[in-house]
Amino acid sequence: MTALRWGILGTGGIARKFVDGLRMIADRCPIVAVGSRTLLSAQSFAAGTMRAHGTYQALIDDPEVDVVYIALLNHQHAEWSIRAAEAGKHVLCEKPAAMTARELESVLSVVKKANTFFMEGFLYRCHPRWAELRQLLTVGVIGEVRIAHATFCFNAPNVPRLLTKAMGGGALMDVGCYPISWLRWIAGAEPSTTTCIATLGGDGVDISASATLHFPNGVIGTVYTSCVAHRQVTASLIGSTGRIDIIEPWRSTPGEAAFIITNQNGTQTIPCLDDGLNTYAREALTVAAHIHERQAPMMNWNDSRGQAHCLDALRHQANIWWDGEK
Ligand SMILES: NC(=O)c1ccc[n+]([C@@H]2O[C@H](COP(=O)([O-])OP(=O)(O)OC[C@H]3O[C@@H](n4cnc5c(N)ncnc54)[C@H](OP(=O)(O)O)[C@@H]3O)[C@@H](O)[C@H]2O)c1
Repeated sequence: MTALRWGILGTGGIARKFVDGLRMIADRCPIVAVGSRTLLSAQSFAAGTMRAHGTYQALIDDPEVDVVYIALLNHQHAEWSIRAAEAGKHVLCEKPAAMTARELESVLSVVKKANTFFMEGFLYRCHPRWAELRQLLTVGVIGEVRIAHATFCFNAPNVPRLLTKAMGGGALMDVGCYPISWLRWIAGAEPSTTTCIATLGGDGVDISASATLHFPNGVIGTVYTSCVAHRQVTASLIGSTGRIDIIEPWRSTPGEAAFIITNQNGTQTIPCLDDGLNTYAREALTVAAHIHERQAPMMNWNDSRGQAHCLDALRHQANIWWDGEK
């Protein structure tokens, strides 16, 4: 596996978690630099362990950076993915990859031309337990999947990035995208019909939303998401002969339960596959493992395209339009 030198764009909460994760695999994924809007913030983040750049462009232009982790606000993801690819850098970009499907297309066309790697950072997808779930479904532990239900709610009522349209705010964009991406993965297809209702807040973004996705194979998926409700993170499958509840679906803790299966044989708890890796480290190793293919099967470009189209549709059904989008 190639040792990629990482550059971090942004010094916020998720950037710190990512760096902590990569420190556990520093031999394979060294972090060489960070870029921020201010040099002071970059220096404070770097704490002498990496080069600090006082602009985002300086990080992109750093010749020792091979791959850029984009941990900026949602409305900045496409612009900086494009700039990074144009500079010949590989990109792992936080979700959602773009504000709209159309914007994502402009990212992917630059990435394709630059022949660089690009992945939207749905880190939960990089965990080996999903392959295990697929196997359980294939052998029919719950029969045919009929219903999939997933949630991601948390309570952060006063965070500007969540309440501001221009920053790509709203529960769907921030956390609802997780359960939606999971329903699409479970169904292995794009929904043929969607519905979405939302309670709006901030300057017209969804602070709570509920969506239904109907897939061509007959599976019905439902989602609740909120950024003003008590924390709830769940994912469940109801099949023709049983059900599976997935514990902490968006964050897998080694050693903790992964699945609770209820079927004709009773209830069985299956522990999480434990490869001892931190979630963020696993995500970075996924990038390294697939760098030569330019996309990773855990979240390939078409998957991101489908995800962006779905988010567009749900947002519009809830009557949320970005400025200038109509
Ligand atoms: N994968 C996950 O589990 C996960 C979890 C949380 C968030 N995220 C995603 O990661 C991204 C960052 O989230 P976060 O929680 O790290 O957010 P955050 O703590 O608010 O940090 C966002 C960063 O964006 C930069 N920024 C640029 N313009 C800004 C502005 N006008 N106001 C505030 N910040 C600005 C800042 O970097 P500088 O000050 O250094 O320029 C800031 O540190 C979002 O897209 C979010 O959806 C993913």
